[in-house]
Amino acid sequence: MYDIYAGYRLDGRFDVAQTARLVARYHYVEAQLMRIAAGKMAELPEWELKCLLGRHLWQDSLHADAWLSRLIDLRWPRRAPLNPGEATCQLLRLLDDAPGSAAFVAAVYRQVKPRLAAAYAAHRAACAPLADEPTWDLLGRIYADEQEQIRQGMALLETFSSEMPVAAQNYETAIAAACDAIGSFAAPDTAAEREAGGSFEGQSIRPAPPIAARDGRFRFGERAADHPPANDHEMALMMAHRDADNEMHAAELLGRNLYEHPEMPWEYHVDTARQLWDEVRHAVLYQRYLEHLGGKLGDFPVIAGNYAYRIGLDFPHRLYDLHLRGEKLGMPDLIRYRETARARGDTPYAMLNDFVHADEVPHVKNGRWLHWLLNNDEAAFRTIERETMRLRAAYEQAHADDPIVMAYTGLVPALLRHEE
Ligand SMILES: [Fe+2]
Ligand SMILES: [Fe+2]
Ligand SMILES: [Fe+2]
Repeated sequence: MYDIYAGYRLDGRFDVAQTARLVARYHYVEAQLMRIAAGKMAELPEWELKCLLGRHLWQDSLHADAWLSRLIDLRWPRRAPLNPGEATCQLLRLLDDAPGSAAFVAAVYRQVKPRLAAAYAAHRAACAPLADEPTWDLLGRIYADEQEQIRQGMALLETFSSEMPVAAQNYETAIAAACDAIGSFAAPDTAAEREAGGSFEGQSIRPAPPIAARDGRFRFGERAADHPPANDHEMALMMAHRDADNEMHAAELLGRNLYEHPEMPWEYHVDTARQLWDEVRHAVLYQRYLEHLGGKLGDFPVIAGNYAYRIGLDFPHRLYDLHLRGEKLGMPDLIRYRETARARGDTPYAMLNDFVHADEVPHVKNGRWLHWLLNNDEAAFRTIERETMRLRAAYEQAHADDPIVMAYTGLVPALLRHEE
């Protein structure tokens, strides 16, 4: 009779304790790769790089989460990571200091991820595939994801126009040396040292850019109100352009929310990574619709927008303003867009707004992290709610000619939409 397990080896090189140490290291590395990429969203200007990072950091959040769950199976008593050792922490701190986009992409996709993928492959070849099939299986699936990520990251690196600057070359050499200082990621004797205070212990926080960076295609400093749309077609183009840019602002802000709060529970980071990826997909959806209409990124002026406003708020007010004000108030507009698109037979626009609206439901639910932050104190929550609304209203009143206000109210009434 067919035997599904006929080809499985009985023995393997790593016992439970050794496997747990390796899995703990994988969790730490994947979690930190996710967090650093999230922090770079607002800092690095290239639109396509933001899109790539958004997708990859979501995958890495799932990888890190799967490793953390596997730890518990491996007789590890609590859902707590291990500190992976100073050499690994040192590499990941260095990774956060990349001097620019090309340096960061080269460091991640030409140095760190290939070594991580090699460790996954080596571990899988050595482990007991039947006794430790859960790890063996995860190694295979995560390895496949990493290989695809490396291929995509290297393809993006090839499209950076000029030669790698000297600073970037030197930086990549330093990253390679820091990787070599760890040795193999799949060597259990150098892996876990002690229980860590959290998934991000030993990592620092770079200051937030006041404005989310955009590449050379984007034009700041012009008022959209000075160029009102000439007809319905131009208005549709403007709206798609505005929405693509605004969705990216949400992704960039979520990147900072994820990056700046290592003290938050692990599950907060998984939720935030997922929402960040959704917002990147929304940005690309509106970009593709813009292109479908015959436009392209850069056709209209952009504003510093919601990233610039919200980055100035503290964490509780920022959480409220994004998840419970912007996301929630924007939902009826998406339904309205879907219905008017259906009525005029615009299937792609109806479809994209239908799915974007569905995504917003969990995004609003992520507002639960504000309740968590406030220890479910309802009075404290109401205070944050009132203050956030008052701050917005005061800002809008005091800055009637500010682009963040003008962009949504200064054009024509039909353009009114509660932004995310
Ligand atoms: Fe990963
Ligand atoms: Fe969105
Ligand atoms: Fe959203």
